[in-house]
Amino acid sequence: ASANIGVVGLAVMGSNLARNLASREGNTVAVFNRSPERTRTLVDEHPEAGFIASESYDEFVASLQKPRTAVIMVQAGKGTDAVISELTARFEPGDIIVDGGNANFHDTIRREAEVRSHGLHFVGMGVSGGEEGALNGPSLMPGGTAESYETLGPILRTIAAKAPEDGEPCVTHVGTDGAGHFVKMVHNGIEYADMQLIAEAYDLIRQGTGKSPAEIADIFAAWNTGELESYLIEITAEVLRQVDAATGEPLVDVILDAAGAKGTGAWTVQNALDLGVPTSGIAEAVFARSLSSKAAQREASADLPGPAEAWTVAPEDADAFIEDVRRALYASKIIAYSQGFDEIISGAEQFGWNIDKGEIAKIWRAGCIIRARFLNRIAEAYADDPSLVALVVAPYFRDAIAGAQESWRRVVQIAAGAGIPTPAFSSSLAYYDGLRAKRLPAALIQGQRDFFGAHTYRRIDKDGVFHTLWSGDRTEIETEPSWH
Ligand code: 6PG
Repeated sequence: ASANIGVVGLAVMGSNLARNLASREGNTVAVFNRSPERTRTLVDEHPEAGFIASESYDEFVASLQKPRTAVIMVQAGKGTDAVISELTARFEPGDIIVDGGNANFHDTIRREAEVRSHGLHFVGMGVSGGEEGALNGPSLMPGGTAESYETLGPILRTIAAKAPEDGEPCVTHVGTDGAGHFVKMVHNGIEYADMQLIAEAYDLIRQGTGKSPAEIADIFAAWNTGELESYLIEITAEVLRQVDAATGEPLVDVILDAAGAKGTGAWTVQNALDLGVPTSGIAEAVFARSLSSKAAQREASADLPGPAEAWTVAPEDADAFIEDVRRALYASKIIAYSQGFDEIISGAEQFGWNIDKGEIAKIWRAGCIIRARFLNRIAEAYADDPSLVALVVAPYFRDAIAGAQESWRRVVQIAAGAGIPTPAFSSSLAYYDGLRAKRLPAALIQGQRDFFGAHTYRRIDKDGVFHTLWSGDRTEIETEPSWH
């Protein structure tokens, strides 16, 4: 027994995380993969890592110092359960099993209870940053017991990305059982929204100004020096600049316009629906990917009528239009994060987690896909007011939207007039206006519900629950709250 940590599952994420761990002072890393060829390849290619390789679970477990700590890096799903049961059968009380896959947090809650019943610790850990992050510094979102974090925390701090502002490692104990995977799920939901918003911005600029992808790449690169600075904006410029070797066309023009998804965005929305949290921007981003992949419907709809006149931006107005789009993007992005944090607040309440929102913003500042300069502003907003009801009302964001909202409205109007789909821009604006509204037509919905189902309503001018006798003399009675 000579390794202080082990990794099970040596596909690219697992291999890279194992190499990252091995490169840090004080770590000796045990590695195991179901098919031993992969283990051999990793060990042969990286002699500098000093891996302790095993070809069986028995050997792997024997190579770990106590308390044993093993990180599972296999595709989320059944494979994870299989590895957990192999480890649980061999581990002893106090040992720690970490699942670093993109697991559904409901599974993590179930697995944590099951593993804990054997006296072991189970940590569901969100790992963000893709292959590059796993190797050089991911953002890590571990859940599980606080006790397990005492052993795990110091190791994770060495491998996590470091925030550029203060060098703080991007890892924190998020909360118990499934909290880490829950927060990773919301991270991915925000990732979907951010990507969709960027895509809408690109589409508007391209269609409105006729600029080439390479020219738009320069615009994104310029945006990346300001308040929008983020990894996703940066890589957008790279993707737009890429030329296809086979055709000489911009790569973005030869990629099939059908977006894939592996499920975490949809989970964010499913859970938001269950929690009653309006994450509309994230939902539109998930649906936009679904729509893009509906080939038959899109083909059948291609000649449905659109606006009578083609839309273009006059050359002299192009710069102002592009600036409008930039502001609309920033405002919508604030909404996406505000909605995401709203889901974290509700999830924490529902599942009994004590999640520090400011800490979450901080550990997303580097390493992860949604890393962005403005996460510092989110961390500050929660530091100023830990019980902030919504990010949009924090003074900084309020001012940011105040400066952007006229542009945002113009862009949504133009897009609607031009027949260019901007589901994320539009729904974010509708959400913002919904929150702002002094009076919502929800009053009418309550009236309708009471009419057809005696669902009752409350009044603005007195306490109590009321029902109008719609099928009788239409007088109002005070009643009990309806149960259906
Ligand atoms: C990350 C990413 C990563 C992956 C997601 C989303 O944080 O490193 O979120 O986990 O990109 O699985 O992938 P899809 O777009 O395929 O759903």
